[in-house]
Amino acid sequence: MNRFLVTDIGELVTCGGGVKRGAAMKNAGAVKDGAFFVADGVIQAVGSREELEKRYRGEARFSCNGALVTPGFVDSHTHAVFGGERSEEFSMRLRGASYMSVMESGGGIAATVAATRAATEEELVRRGKEHLARMLAFGVTTAEVKSGYGLDTETELKQLSAVKKLGKIQPVELVPTYMGAHAVPAGTTAEAYIERCVNEILPKIAESGLAEFADIFCEEGVFSLSQSEKYLLKAGSLGFRLKLHADEMVSLGGAGLGARLGAVSADHLLKIGKEDIARLAKSDTIATVLPLTAFCLGEDYAPARALIDGGAIVAAASDFNPGSCCSCSVPLLIALCCIYMKMSVEETLTALTINGAAACGREKSSGSIEVGKQADFVVFSCNKKEFLPYYTGMNLVKTVFKKGVRAYG
Ligand code: NIG
Ligand code: FE
Repeated sequence: MNRFLVTDIGELVTCGGGVKRGAAMKNAGAVKDGAFFVADGVIQAVGSREELEKRYRGEARFSCNGALVTPGFVDSHTHAVFGGERSEEFSMRLRGASYMSVMESGGGIAATVAATRAATEEELVRRGKEHLARMLAFGVTTAEVKSGYGLDTETELKQLSAVKKLGKIQPVELVPTYMGAHAVPAGTTAEAYIERCVNEILPKIAESGLAEFADIFCEEGVFSLSQSEKYLLKAGSLGFRLKLHADEMVSLGGAGLGARLGAVSADHLLKIGKEDIARLAKSDTIATVLPLTAFCLGEDYAPARALIDGGAIVAAASDFNPGSCCSCSVPLLIALCCIYMKMSVEETLTALTINGAAACGREKSSGSIEVGKQADFVVFSCNKKEFLPYYTGMNLVKTVFKKGVRAYG
């Protein structure tokens, strides 16, 4: 079935009209009695059911039986390819240890680095496939995936090569990010490692063509503002688009740096200062909030309300990773956005679709149900968007289409 009319939709949330900042985020484009026509994986027409039923009479129909339909979700920040697991660290945190104290004592990211170095590429692909199947079941049709558990050329390339293979063998479209500056490898200093990234690793990753973005953990005790600037400037000069993990544990100023360097996104932002909220709001750098991480770490949430009210482009993503946030649950993410970050359902859907697509460079092809976009969409087992946070943490996804092909359900 490569030509069909999607019809009998209870509520169609198109998220159309482009990437949205500030007050515009509440326009999720929800229409009653809408329909759309798909051919060759692309959306050909969007309109009222009555009109499209007439125009496409005789074509195949996919009846949604009165259900809610949204664009496929875009998870623009994940670390979904890694070796090993860190349930022991999670238990330590339950007993009172902090994320940074585990990292400082040689655990945390370093433990996953050891396990990822030891894993074969096939193992990384096999495990990654399981994670991506879970994400698809939550309605995710596009996901960014970072490396950063190798911290050496060979393992970073192995991770990115696993991401490329995964992009070919399962339906979720993947956007690869090199995040070599994720932690300081044992036996060196942050300064020396950044030099190595700049002079050796970044150029090799660029040559491989395996990553579109470069990302860095700009954080007190990890990489400083000046080290982050050096790394990102080099990455930019090699053709990477830029991202940062910014202001997650302390208010260091990473978000402001991202805005100044024209980064595509600055992510986390739990501790972002007032001045940097204003800087992001004035810039095109997307503020990506990751409330599942704050939830798992027991931290306060990023000030999404202040960012939106200030006029920023806000995206929301999972940050799925084996340490700070071993969850890719979109239902829980939606609930946290609405209940704790005080985002409306419409703002949350914008953040998870078109703005998420922009945060990983896919806003032209994904993130909305509009003519010319890929037919990536989700059919739910409820009839209106308000049920998404109301059925808290429960998965209401019934069927997922990727490029017009039924990929789940
Ligand atoms: O986004 N903060 C740094 N990086 C990840 C965690 C990675 C890990 O703990 O393995 C994050 O939270
Ligand atoms: Fe992250």
